[in-house]
Amino acid sequence: MKTYLFISFLVVLVSCSRDPKESLMQVPIPAKVNYQFEPPAHFPKPVYDFMGNPVTAKGFELGRMLFYDPVLSRDSTVSCSSCHQQFVAFAHSDHARSHGIDNQLTFRNSIAIFNLAWQKEYFWDGGVNHLELIPLAPIANPLEMDEVASRAVHKLNISPRYSKLFKEAFGKDSIDSQQMLFALAQFSGLMISSNSKYDQFVTNKATLNKPELDGLTIFTQKCSGCHSGVFQTDNSYRNNGLNRTFMSDTGRERITTLKSDIGKFKVPSLRNVVLTSPYMHDGRISTLDQVLEHYNSGMYKSLTLDSTFYRPDGTYGISLSDSEKQNILAFLQTLTDNTFINDTRFSDPFQTSSSNISNHSHP
Ligand code: HEC
Ligand code: HEC
Repeated sequence: MKTYLFISFLVVLVSCSRDPKESLMQVPIPAKVNYQFEPPAHFPKPVYDFMGNPVTAKGFELGRMLFYDPVLSRDSTVSCSSCHQQFVAFAHSDHARSHGIDNQLTFRNSIAIFNLAWQKEYFWDGGVNHLELIPLAPIANPLEMDEVASRAVHKLNISPRYSKLFKEAFGKDSIDSQQMLFALAQFSGLMISSNSKYDQFVTNKATLNKPELDGLTIFTQKCSGCHSGVFQTDNSYRNNGLNRTFMSDTGRERITTLKSDIGKFKVPSLRNVVLTSPYMHDGRISTLDQVLEHYNSGMYKSLTLDSTFYRPDGTYGISLSDSEKQNILAFLQTLTDNTFINDTRFSDPFQTSSSNISNHSHP
């Protein structure tokens, strides 16, 4: 009886994951959607050059499907969107670490995804240095999607739906990994977050109130040594005092093998930071109040602790009064971009494009 139940459960699972989406042969391309890569005027020059991978409606929509489709994982249970959810700016809501394949926990905290075209390096340790190569890491990662890229491409090739869509997008008879990466780069590269209240303030379209302005002033004095510019990051790797020793995760050292990089992690952008809890590379801090208290009084000293944290008297940290903390929090609120998290170009195509696919769900 138990076995029978188990088998029928499996059959249901398998049939759910196959039928509905294979029937979705046509990607509806909505009218009047903007598929142009348009760098906002107040952003610096992008790093990624779309000249080598021109965005098209079909290429972008294909990338969008791939992002939301678990087909790229070994057992078709995990998609990019399992760990990157739009309503929290494509971080993973409430997860210090995410559940990957076979319900294993990821090594680190998922990173929010936006403005990738302006970055030179990706991941907490900068382990990937080209936008197009990003998907290869989660696809191959045994804790995340655990799939061989060539097998993922094979699965796409034997799918009538994807064969057709790739041919329409790239004009070739068979799918290769480059086309898969191009499509995902078109989709993820267009994820631009540039319309927060702070952006409107910078472009003279909105004003900040007193606490927000005071917060910006304190932030500029005390935080922007690292969290600088319109992205609130100088793209460096630093040790902000989370541990006395870094044993299980040495951070940037994993890439450079330099002892001087032990305990250093990417300075993250703080755009949408109110949404992307929990915080830090391992998601150890759950609230922004606690983050501020970490800087104020919770820091650990180690050999690579950033020198900017040392006070003249030999103690370390960033002293913050209660009112300074309140104002910084008010400023951080202005970095939330509701346009971005509600932009239907980036939503789940399997949920929105066809109402008969109601039983499609992500793990
Ligand atoms: C099982 C969870 C999981 C899945 C599935 C997953 N990711 Fe991630 N993603 C993470 C984690 C965790 C990190 C941080 C990894 C690190 O720094 O070592 C991350 C980091 C990233 C980043 C880095 C952003 C930055 O600013 O550095 C991008 C981009 C990204 N993922 C895109 C993708 C794409 C595209 C897919 C699908 C092909 C995908 N992810 C699948 C969990 C996941
Ligand atoms: C010396 C550089 C430096 C300074 C100064 C600094 N930070 Fe950071 N910040 C970092 C680094 C590096 C991380 C990521 C650390 C990690 O995860 O291991 C980080 C992480 C954060 C995070 C978590 C973001 C996320 O997505 O997980 C927040 C919030 C934050 N900092 C806010 C601030 C504020 C507010 C100030 C000023 C009071 C400040 N930081 C000062 C380097 C710095």
